[in-house]
Amino acid sequence: MNSSLTFAGAADPAAGKAWFGADRFGMFIHFGLYALAARHEWVQNREEIPGETYAKYFENFDPDLYDPKEWARRAREAGMKYVVLTAKHHEGFCLWDSEFTDYKATNTPYGRDLLKPYVEAFRAEGLRVGFYYSLIDWHHPQFPIDAIHPLRNHPDAPEMNKTRDVRRYAEYMRNQVTELLTNFGEISVIWFDFSYPQREHRGMPGKGRNDWESEELMGLVRQLQPNIIVGDRLDLPADGNFPKDLATPEQYTPRVAPLANGKPVRWEACHTFSGSWGYHRDENTWKDAGQLINILIDTVSLGGNLLMNVGPTARGTFDARANRALEVYRDWMRLNGRSIYGAGPSGYTAPAGCRLTQRGNRLYVHLQTWPFRHIHIEGLGGRVKYAQFLHDASEIQWIDPEAEVDSNIGVTVGKGMLTLELPVIKPDVVVPVIELILKD
Ligand code: GLC
Repeated sequence: MNSSLTFAGAADPAAGKAWFGADRFGMFIHFGLYALAARHEWVQNREEIPGETYAKYFENFDPDLYDPKEWARRAREAGMKYVVLTAKHHEGFCLWDSEFTDYKATNTPYGRDLLKPYVEAFRAEGLRVGFYYSLIDWHHPQFPIDAIHPLRNHPDAPEMNKTRDVRRYAEYMRNQVTELLTNFGEISVIWFDFSYPQREHRGMPGKGRNDWESEELMGLVRQLQPNIIVGDRLDLPADGNFPKDLATPEQYTPRVAPLANGKPVRWEACHTFSGSWGYHRDENTWKDAGQLINILIDTVSLGGNLLMNVGPTARGTFDARANRALEVYRDWMRLNGRSIYGAGPSGYTAPAGCRLTQRGNRLYVHLQTWPFRHIHIEGLGGRVKYAQFLHDASEIQWIDPEAEVDSNIGVTVGKGMLTLELPVIKPDVVVPVIELILKD
């Protein structure tokens, strides 16, 4: 790394970020004018809504029930340890009282800044605070129209671009990012979204690092908050001055842990409850309890974090479906959080239908599919000191690996096989977890 980019207080850049791998579970919040349309945060793009029409959401933005203390309490109860809120999404609307735009919450009927109270409320509940900041901006007059802009099919779009200067837009972003990383105390994560250099439309190019001036933006971020974790959607070169800080697989569970330049990298999967990030009234593909819990387990078992999204309503509330989903996490994490926090992949191989996580000499077997009476784990025979269910700390017995072969259950004893004995009936837990305390 270029030494001019190493900053005081960040001698070991990884040290200030160690919390991330221990915390494992965070809340994403997508809140903006699109909550009023209530049909996806990309509504302005999808329906090609010009600014004059989209203005109705700005003119009616009044989340009168906004209570970030309640958001923060629900996040903490769900077991989440950090939070990332859309300070600005693609529509360009800003939740804080930015000096550099009029398109902000303080100029709506609501009339107040939403970010300070958010930051304070989540900190008070013990969560680390982050911001999402969209590189894309469908409102800014200097942002050149491109393939994903609402005006992309406007007959005069290429002509209109002649008066748009992306350099001035890049400067606007640096000004705003300076506000976000100066006026709100310690910010733990900044999530930039996103780049699409190859996407061309009617001769209008996509956007990437040269448009955002990504290197300069990153330098600024590192200077203002040396320990901050930065999302990887700035289109920075993999072998450049700023190595990938956070890989961000979106809406899928990676099959294997992501790599950067062939090496393991810090990563975070982000997911929605129902497929939309912004509040979507009529979206019905809400994940069930098993899917919600398994996404978290799958992610941590591969060494990643989960950032799970809530899209608040235009009144500023979490709707009943979102609260129910959060309660699924709350109930499961209260009893099983020990298999998640500070835990990561295990060197042992998970039996079919299971996922493993491990922290030191504690190995956690997540029974995603409830088996009939036994599970067999290779390589663990003779290695276990004690075994219990996590949810009620009830003992789990195992078959002595030195005992004679029990041909009824086909156990190969004495060859390192651990066979756990389970009740026939699955305990009343979405995904039961067995804690194995290993011999030193
Ligand atoms: C995508 C979408 C955006 C969402 C983000 C979250 O990039 O453009 O709406 O905020 O994913 O990961």
